[in-house]
Amino acid sequence: MRIDILTLFSEMFENVLGHSILKIAREKGLVQYNLFNIREYADNKRCVDDRPYGGGPGMVMKPEPVFNTVGAIEQQTDVRPRKILLTPQGARFSQSIARELAKEPYLMLICGHYEGFDERIRIGLDVFEISIGDYVLSGGEIPAMVVVDAVVRLIPGVLGDQESAASESFSDDLLEYPQYTRPAEYRGMKVPEVLMSGHHQKIKEWQREHALKRTVERRPDNLNKI
Ligand code: ADE
Repeated sequence: MRIDILTLFSEMFENVLGHSILKIAREKGLVQYNLFNIREYADNKRCVDDRPYGGGPGMVMKPEPVFNTVGAIEQQTDVRPRKILLTPQGARFSQSIARELAKEPYLMLICGHYEGFDERIRIGLDVFEISIGDYVLSGGEIPAMVVVDAVVRLIPGVLGDQESAASESFSDDLLEYPQYTRPAEYRGMKVPEVLMSGHHQKIKEWQREHALKRTVERRPDNLNKI
């Protein structure tokens, strides 16, 4: 998969893309990350935002630097990306959207800053708008990292067999069952006997039961999807 990230703050990504699963995915040749600094494509490099028409607080990201960046990238290749705009007004990001995006060969994530985007970016670029939750962040960079992480770990081959099998064993709408590792007792708290019994059928039943119990207690809204 190719992932292009258009941002005013490309340095913010270097650490995140250079560690853990995102780094391993690149090293395995399963994903390629390209960072584009929107400012470099602006007609006037000092000016990527401006005051909103009609007044109001804050600054709005101008259309031309974003259109110029997308245009320059599209000149390099005939393959058209799935364009994603990170905005609090977008569709709520979820595991099912991540799964859908993991099938794409080429994603382009466009990060805004300031109060928002000029509406013509939405209208003219055919973007899929994504919000990572009902709160306002100061830019689309952290949301883009969230989307990249959630998507890349789903690309076949990125996670080891064991990890991917574990994450697929139950429906995505069920919360995880409680997990334990050594020692068998810690500060008076014991690991449930059944998990140490070696009885695979019983262990599976325990895990399913506790995943359901946790979902009922914490996310009853998820239950009708199961
Ligand atoms: N930009 C600012 N806030 C955001 C959010 N919650 N999701 C996606 N992009 C954003």
